[in-house]
Amino acid sequence: MYKTVFSYVGKYKKQAILTPITIMGEVAMEVLIPYVMANIIDKGVNKGDVGYVAKMGGVMVCMAIVSLFFGAIAGRFSAVAAVGFAKNLRGAMFRKVQEFSFSNVDKFSTASLTTRLTTDVTNLQNAFMMFIRMAFRAPIMLIFALIMAIRMNGKLSIVFLCVIPLIIIGAALILSNAHPRFKAMLAKYDDMNAKVQENLIGIRTVKAFVREDYEKKKFNDNTEAVRKAQVHAEKLVILSMPLMQMFMYITIISIVWFGSHMIVGGTMELGDLTSFITYVGQILMSLMMLSFLFMMFIISRASLQRIYEVLIEKPEIVSPASSEKEVADGSVSFRNVSFSYFKDMSNLALEKINVDIKSGETIGIIGGTGSSKTSLVQLIPRLYDATDGEVLVGGRNVKEYDLDALRNNVAMVLQKNVLFSGTIKENLKWGNPDATDDEIISACKSACAHDFIMNFPDGYETDLGQGGVNVSGGQKQRICIARALLKKPKIIILDDSTSAVDTATDSSIRTAFRENLADTTTFIIAQRISSVQDADRIIVMDDGKITDIGTHEELLITSAIYREVYESQQKGADE
Ligand SMILES: Nc1ncnc2c1ncn2[C@@H]1O[C@H](COP(=O)(O)OP(=O)(O)OP(=O)(O)O)[C@@H](O)[C@H]1O
Ligand SMILES: [Mg+2]
Repeated sequence: MYKTVFSYVGKYKKQAILTPITIMGEVAMEVLIPYVMANIIDKGVNKGDVGYVAKMGGVMVCMAIVSLFFGAIAGRFSAVAAVGFAKNLRGAMFRKVQEFSFSNVDKFSTASLTTRLTTDVTNLQNAFMMFIRMAFRAPIMLIFALIMAIRMNGKLSIVFLCVIPLIIIGAALILSNAHPRFKAMLAKYDDMNAKVQENLIGIRTVKAFVREDYEKKKFNDNTEAVRKAQVHAEKLVILSMPLMQMFMYITIISIVWFGSHMIVGGTMELGDLTSFITYVGQILMSLMMLSFLFMMFIISRASLQRIYEVLIEKPEIVSPASSEKEVADGSVSFRNVSFSYFKDMSNLALEKINVDIKSGETIGIIGGTGSSKTSLVQLIPRLYDATDGEVLVGGRNVKEYDLDALRNNVAMVLQKNVLFSGTIKENLKWGNPDATDDEIISACKSACAHDFIMNFPDGYETDLGQGGVNVSGGQKQRICIARALLKKPKIIILDDSTSAVDTATDSSIRTAFRENLADTTTFIIAQRISSVQDADRIIVMDDGKITDIGTHEELLITSAIYREVYESQQKGADE
């Protein structure tokens, strides 16, 4: 786990290594300064040698400057290394997420992925910076200061032997309980981010339903949960501070006690005791740093694990090794296809689907909501894989195709489609980056989008705003259809893509499709019979199964469901 994640330090390794090296310079100075100090007091002050005091004072100032210099560049190196590491890590995670298939995203949830890419990386970045600054500094300082103290007065150093083990036991006890608490805290972060995300994406709906107060309350609950979890986790860790301080004062008091006895007894000089106390400070300081490091480690380990999970996630759907790049034609076959979102044959969204569709056919699909119409068609561009049976496109199993090639030939206008910020033209070019203006206009004419686009003052250069907020629902749908058409696909799937378009425009889109896209296999999922009635064949779906297939006229006779839907819609129209 550590190896995988920390390999993303990458080209910032140089700074990461230079940090502890420069810090060693800083530590060396810090450790030597009290030694010089002791000399000044014992040899200079006590003997009244002003010259000596001035000389050694100068040396001390120089050492302080050198120490400051090393400290400053170490700070810079560690910051550069940690920020670079975070950038690399985020980049790697983002690239990984782009490879995810829908089921991978379902598994993590978008909110959790957001937390992992933001908060978790920040946690790890901070821990990494602390680590390269302190992981060497603390033990080196501890060892040097211990050596100097023992050299100065071995007897007095016995105090450390008693205190250090106590400190280690205390810290270990506190921190071993903290890890699960931090994990729980991050899960609460996920919930909070989910709430924010949902609210911001649906802000218009929230306002339309005057749900602001309810949303505020829910968000309040989420932040309260984060607060509680965080307090619960941190209050353990915070305990280590007073504990350390207590040990620090106990140590200093005992050293002053024993030290003053030694001075009175003539076995120690005053200067030595002053310096000894400075070393005590350094030793306890480095122990404190070590326990702080340990704490960072605990906090960041939960984050590290969550980052690692994203990095090692296997994209569910990938191109096979020797993949087919060409899709022969637009024929589609379902052979005994069953599908479950949970890979569970007892919880099926689609059950034993068998149907053969010729290239160039227009297929209507009708069925109640939740009857698995979307589930059926999304198997064609391999947005999900069939759980059982096989789906064939152009006579080959979809799993044999190169994913990009398959998806370029199977254009799907999703039910919940999105436009991105940018101009209309930029959005259309998602379908085909090399499309000429003529191609763009012709696709927009087929999708009945050209006229309304030209009515905007900026035409095709109109800026859409984030998520395409500047166009109406029906206009958005038509831009999405045009975007799919620009791919010049062999198969085009319209999943309820004209639901927000008036019947007259809907009908002219279908006429344009018949005239311009005669060779393209077209799937039209719709709620309105009028949208599918002139299709070559219509599939009637109910509860994950195909109940009937046929033309409009045939189905009126053979399919009870179809007849019922038709009659209810006719009645509505007649009235
Ligand atoms: N990502 C998903 N994870 C789990 N279950 C899902 C998922 N998407 C859809 N389902 C379930 O699968 C079933 C079929 O859904 P599907 O979206 O295919 O219906 P549909 O016929 O397209 O409905 P609609 O007309 O409302 O679009 C539903 O019961 C739904 O709850
Ligand atoms: Mg659907």
